[in-house]
Amino acid sequence: MTEKTATLSTDGNEYDLPVLPGSVGPEVVDIRKLYGQSGKFTYDPGFTSTASCQSAITYIDGGEGVLLHRGYPIDQLAEHSTFMEVAYLLLHGDLPKKNELDKFSKTITYHTMVHEQLVHFFRGFRRDAHPMSVMCGVVGALSAFYHDSTDITDPTQRLIASHRLIAKMPTIAAMAHKYSLGQPFLYPQNDLSYTGNFLRMTFGVPAEPYEVNPVIERAMDRIFILHADHEQNASTSTVRLAGSSGANPFACIAAGIACLWGPAHGGANEAALNMLREIGDVKNIKTYVERAKDKNDPFRLMGFGHRVYKNYDPRAKVMQQTAEEVLKELNLTDPVLDVARELEHIALNDDYFVEKKLYPNVDFYSGIILNAIGFPTEMFTALFALARTTGWVAQWNEMISDPEQKIGRPRQLYVGATQRDYVPMDER
Ligand code: CMC
Repeated sequence: MTEKTATLSTDGNEYDLPVLPGSVGPEVVDIRKLYGQSGKFTYDPGFTSTASCQSAITYIDGGEGVLLHRGYPIDQLAEHSTFMEVAYLLLHGDLPKKNELDKFSKTITYHTMVHEQLVHFFRGFRRDAHPMSVMCGVVGALSAFYHDSTDITDPTQRLIASHRLIAKMPTIAAMAHKYSLGQPFLYPQNDLSYTGNFLRMTFGVPAEPYEVNPVIERAMDRIFILHADHEQNASTSTVRLAGSSGANPFACIAAGIACLWGPAHGGANEAALNMLREIGDVKNIKTYVERAKDKNDPFRLMGFGHRVYKNYDPRAKVMQQTAEEVLKELNLTDPVLDVARELEHIALNDDYFVEKKLYPNVDFYSGIILNAIGFPTEMFTALFALARTTGWVAQWNEMISDPEQKIGRPRQLYVGATQRDYVPMDER
């Protein structure tokens, strides 16, 4: 079969560029040899049209609102699976058999404690430090403690580091929360599930027994599943870029956490909840919808719209259902949920939002759930980081094992001064 090509013509020359197919989704034009042949780079700020790698982990069709992990639709995973199983799936490529899942869960459980010396790190932070600043520092510091899993050329060490990161993130996130409250840290209790253990370390106190509520445990587990991976987003690309230089996995994940912290990425769920609170009452929605449509007003409906999804974010549907379940279980009537439901209804029937294909995204309902469970808003992004660590380590492992992967080194369109001679100070 003849290879498919695309032709680029410039300056009277033509260049045939290979077109590579994926298993599903858009083909890519392979421009790797273009510079060598033509002396020209391609220009794509924000990488909106550039595939930076090949990957077999996650597939998104934004137009159709499809999200698949290793081929499995996110709604099926959210309904039938557990976060541990999804972590295995992302890391190993297939759903585990029962004995494989049992072994994996046991291994993760085995690594949940952090080195006791690491506990002292927390005391160096101010009590009012943002949990994400603590997470960046403490996760980066893990590399100082686990030397035996930082040789990235050894697949066994890579796997151990991946297990350690997945296992220790809940412990570190819960400690960040406890530290902000001035409450004692709780050690993991390994007869609990991954998520139950996290809830106990976050909300339990040593003086009282802590009963894990199975409805909340399931809701939290589902939130973790919904955040586990999302293809080559900014933080995942950051992890890959950091890893491409051979940096150790703990340093790479710390870089991912730093990127995720930004309000345009992991911080939007906090902003969505604040917006719903600001709207406050169903009767105020119209005013805010008008403001969102007004080009002269910077206000946007937070939790609406997405760079990739131009249809309903499939994660938002599961989030809405989970919000209803959690509020019912906790016997809470949060007026914010009424505002969210009505706002969604109005926006989805408004020409502006319909034409621009703006739908609720994963962040629209998640803040309501996390708030109901008892998390302060500053913890929202830390929970996202905890869950996304599974995706990050899966993507990092895939990259290191890919023989075609090189150190990440984008080029640029230089628009600065051309060469000029140094001017002595007294002549400037
Ligand atoms: N409210 C009102 N108008 C909007 C909104 C919104 N939330 N989002 C986009 N638009 C309009 C925007 O004004 C623009 O209009 P025009 O074409 O007339 O200039 C058009 O829709 C396209 O917007 P864009 O900013 O060019 O689209 P983008 O793909 O660059 O931005 C986005 C995507 C998520 C940054 C944006 O939709 C947004 O700011 N949403 C609110 C913040 C939010 O909820 N972020 C969470 C994203 S999901 C988290 C994750 O998956 O990591």
